[in-house]
Amino acid sequence: MAAFTYMGTKKSLADTISALCGLHAPGPFLDLFSGISAAGSSVAPLRQIWCNDAQIFSRTLTEALFRSTVDRPRSDHVATIVRRLGDDNLNALARTLRHPLEEELGLLWVVAPEEQIAIQSRQREDCTMRRADLEGRFTHCLFTTRYAGSYFGLVQAIQLDAIRYGADQALKIGSISSEEHRWSLLALCRSIASISNSTGHFAQYLTPSSTNLRRVLNKRRRCAWAYWIEALEDMCAIGDAEWRASNRVFHGDAVDVLQEIGAHDARPAIIYADPPYTNDQYSRYYHLLETALLYDYPAADGKGLYREDRFRSNFSLARSVDASFERMISEAGQTGASLMISYPSNGLLPDSLQRIPELMAEHFSHVQDPLVIPHKHSTLGASKGREKEDVEECIFVAAQAPLAA
Ligand SMILES: C[S@@+](CC[C@H](N)C(=O)[O-])C[C@H]1O[C@@H](n2cnc3c(N)ncnc32)[C@H](O)[C@@H]1O
Repeated sequence: MAAFTYMGTKKSLADTISALCGLHAPGPFLDLFSGISAAGSSVAPLRQIWCNDAQIFSRTLTEALFRSTVDRPRSDHVATIVRRLGDDNLNALARTLRHPLEEELGLLWVVAPEEQIAIQSRQREDCTMRRADLEGRFTHCLFTTRYAGSYFGLVQAIQLDAIRYGADQALKIGSISSEEHRWSLLALCRSIASISNSTGHFAQYLTPSSTNLRRVLNKRRRCAWAYWIEALEDMCAIGDAEWRASNRVFHGDAVDVLQEIGAHDARPAIIYADPPYTNDQYSRYYHLLETALLYDYPAADGKGLYREDRFRSNFSLARSVDASFERMISEAGQTGASLMISYPSNGLLPDSLQRIPELMAEHFSHVQDPLVIPHKHSTLGASKGREKEDVEECIFVAAQAPLAA
């Protein structure tokens, strides 16, 4: 699962969380803000894993990793059938868009910023103009009509639509299972992450300039199918099917999900919270993946072409972050589970090194001194400048019973 796997410091943070779990009562580990669930993957399969996240991408991935009934897709079979079916959509779109396609292919090896800027804006205008017509004739043209000339080239956008079409058709005629369909869509997400013309996340696409042109063209020349097949071959679930059958995946606001869990008998033994720590909304970084999964032709706006209905987290708003921590810690306290929070010392919550233990003390009978780990943090595509900055990552632990030494 390479492109969905954290390397370096996030992985070692996950391993620390996993090691700390040994001090707590047995029972399920709830990764409350799971993302790609680095922590859940590290704790598995010693405990049952429960995941939650507000993003559909995370729900789809964690369901596949932790809930699949079969270990992996039949990748050769799936690739062959999806490719064969997908080619119908690809050929039909390519025939309709023959001239702009030829123009793009003719320029793909030309390192001239003005021409590249011009062709990209032409592609965007063209697609907008043809949108109604194409969407009336094709069930699968979302990437072609929304993102050609921005995050992807026209060839790539047509390929992405073909992959989605091939996967949907293969499921419809019963040639692949619904789990294989899900793995196909996750591989599509990984292909998108590998080829998209952006800085790692999808907050904005890169407009070609003399300084970034080689990078932009390098991405433009990548074949969506090749990255999809490579990703599909890598896809596999964690643990065995019997263990996975008792895992759970939720999809909602963290505080609402804690309330829901509090009302039921089955409870987690440990709640792990890794909430957003800046005022950058995660949904800006996930929007292309959400759209690839939902394939719902959303209204998209602004330079980043974000989905209109994207989720906005209260943990990423300065005015509500303190109240959100308070509600989360209070709800967690009522479940009887232990609570671990990871949060950087300079996160959006002011004075977090004092404030989190203070809130924990109101709702838990035992609160440990925070573990402070020097760390390099991703600034999520460098919207604030540098891509990595030095911070202290802190782990806060509280429990309702004394912890083993
Ligand atoms: C710092 S990331 C967590 C990363 C995660 N530990 C991992 O291994 O990928 C924060 C995650 O919380 C999610 N999120 C933000 N606000 C949320 C909320 N109020 N409820 C549920 N999920 C939320 C985001 O979608 C994002 O995936």
